[in-house]
Amino acid sequence: MITIVGAGRVGVAAALFMMLRELDDILLIDIIEGKPQGEALDLAHAAAILGLSVDVRGSNDYRDMAGSDLVVVTAGFPRKPGMTREELLAKNAGIIAGIADNILEYAPNSVVMLTTNPVDAMTYVMYKRLGWERRRVIGFSGVLDAGRLAYYASRKLGVSPASITPVVIGMHGEAMLPVPRLSSVAGIPLTSLLTEEELREVAEETVKAGAAITQLRGYSSSYGPGAGLALMAESVKKNQRRAFTASVYLDGEYGERDVVAEVPVVLGGGGVERILELPLTEEERRAFHESCSAVRDLVKRLPRELLER
Ligand code: APR
Repeated sequence: MITIVGAGRVGVAAALFMMLRELDDILLIDIIEGKPQGEALDLAHAAAILGLSVDVRGSNDYRDMAGSDLVVVTAGFPRKPGMTREELLAKNAGIIAGIADNILEYAPNSVVMLTTNPVDAMTYVMYKRLGWERRRVIGFSGVLDAGRLAYYASRKLGVSPASITPVVIGMHGEAMLPVPRLSSVAGIPLTSLLTEEELREVAEETVKAGAAITQLRGYSSSYGPGAGLALMAESVKKNQRRAFTASVYLDGEYGERDVVAEVPVVLGGGGVERILELPLTEEERRAFHESCSAVRDLVKRLPRELLER
C-alpha cells in the first residue's frame, strides 16, 4: 500500500497519477476531517469508471498506514501574508517531525518521499528525525525542475521534451542550478544546440516556473509534482532502477557533507540505490557548493530539537 500524507492539491494529484498507473492501493491521510475521505471517494469513483484495480481510501488516523511500503509526504503550509520564511520553515519542520514520528511507529520499513517546502531542508529534518539509512528518505522536486528545463528547451529546439535529458542540481528554489552543458538531445549538449542568450532564457524560465504558475492561478503547482511523484513511486514499487534527480543526504558526494541537495540518483526497491556523480567543471562545482550553502543556511535556522528523537 502507498500512503500519501497530506490530501491537499499535491497529494491528490499524486494519488491520481499513481492510481492511473495502478501502482498499488492508496491511502490518503490528512488532519482535516472529511477531506481525505472525500478526495478518496471521488478518486475511487474515477477508478471504478476507468475500470482500474486500485482501492483508494482516506483517513485521519495514522494507524491506518500500517503495512505501507511507500509513504509520500505532501503535508505542509504555504507562506501566508505577514509570515516570515523562518516562521514557515519552523512550522513545516514541526509538521515533518510529527509525521516522521508516526512513520517510525506505523510504517517503519517504508521508503519515504516528501514534497513539503523548502524541500531540501525538510528532507534533512525527515532524515535526521527518522534516523534511518539515507537511501530511504527522498526529497521530491528534482524531477519537476528537470522536467521544466526539458519543457522550455523543447520549445526552443522543436524537439520533444521526451528526447531531452535535462540536468538540474542543487537546491530546489531560486538557488537551483540548471546545467545545460550536461543536458542533451541524442548525446548533443544543449550548449551546442542553443545560443547563450537562449540558454539563459531557458535557465531563467526553469528557475521561475513555479512562481509563474502561482502568479497565474493563485496557488502553487500540483500536476507536475503529482506526475513526477508517480514516476518515482513506480521505480521504487517495481524496482525499476530508473535515474531521477532527487534531494538526498550527501555524505561526501560532490565534496559535500551533512547537507541535502538535488542530484541524479537511481531509484529502486530499497529507495536510493545509487547516487550518480556528474563530471562537473570547477565553476559548476563552485555553483553547486553555493546552492548547497543556501540549504545549509536554512538548516541552521531549524529548531534543533526537531532534528532528534
Ligand atoms: N498531517 C497530515 N496532513 C497535514 C498535516 C499533518 N500534520 N499538516 C497539514 N496537513 C495537510 C493540510 O490539511 C492540507 O490538506 O496538508 C495539506 C496541504 O495541502 P495544500 O495546502 O493544498 O498544499 P499543496 O499545494 O498540496 O502543497 C503541499 O508540497 O509542493 C509542496 O510547497 C508545497 O509545502 C507544500 C506541500
